[in-house]
Amino acid sequence: RFEAVVFDLDGVIADTAGVHEAAWRRLAAEIDVPLADDIGERLKGVDRRASLDIVLEQAPRAFDDAEREALAARKNGYYRERIEQFGPQDLLPGAREAIASVRAAGLGIALASASRNAPLLLERLGIADLFDHVVDANRIRHSKPDPEIFLAAAAGLGVAPSACLGIEDAAAGVASIRAAGMCAVGIGSYETLGDADAVLPSIAAFDLGAFATL
Ligand code: G6P
Ligand code: MG
Repeated sequence: RFEAVVFDLDGVIADTAGVHEAAWRRLAAEIDVPLADDIGERLKGVDRRASLDIVLEQAPRAFDDAEREALAARKNGYYRERIEQFGPQDLLPGAREAIASVRAAGLGIALASASRNAPLLLERLGIADLFDHVVDANRIRHSKPDPEIFLAAAAGLGVAPSACLGIEDAAAGVASIRAAGMCAVGIGSYETLGDADAVLPSIAAFDLGAFATL
């Protein structure tokens, strides 16, 4: 019944959630901003500037636009330092198999990642050629939970959103998928992703056939 599957990248295919969090923590420590223990969950799926706003919530002083630009760029430098070392070993277990199973079933495959590092990451992971369409995050005006990025993925594939299955590890991402009119598979805990049509503990449990009745 589905004609395409639209994947998120960070936390679904690539083991990067901790890398993003570590880069933000390094930046926060340098500017003496305390971070809550659970900040990592809040940063999932949130674009770079909105993430910085979250990181600066407990800042002892205000930062102007130019400073914010510089802080976001500094965090990205820390993140890039790490992902430039990435290789296929940094794929989450079962990710390549999940994508390959979608391809084998003859369905379209797209990437809907808010990350402007997504093209680099796909190259480093060795999976860039498995995607029929990769949404350019630079052209997305409204970040998740807005449906824009998943609608752009469906449009890029030439498939109706209602015929797409979206896969996300972030609550904001699941909301974006649902708002786009797609069925949503959450990767993580039911507690965080209860709005999804199905929740799996990891992409390793992905079984396309199991979603035929969604
Ligand atoms: C993904 C990650 C977020 C990250 C965002 C932007 O959505 O889950 O943690 O902030 O991409 O990434 P970027 O690589 O452009 O800073
Ligand atoms: Mg994600």
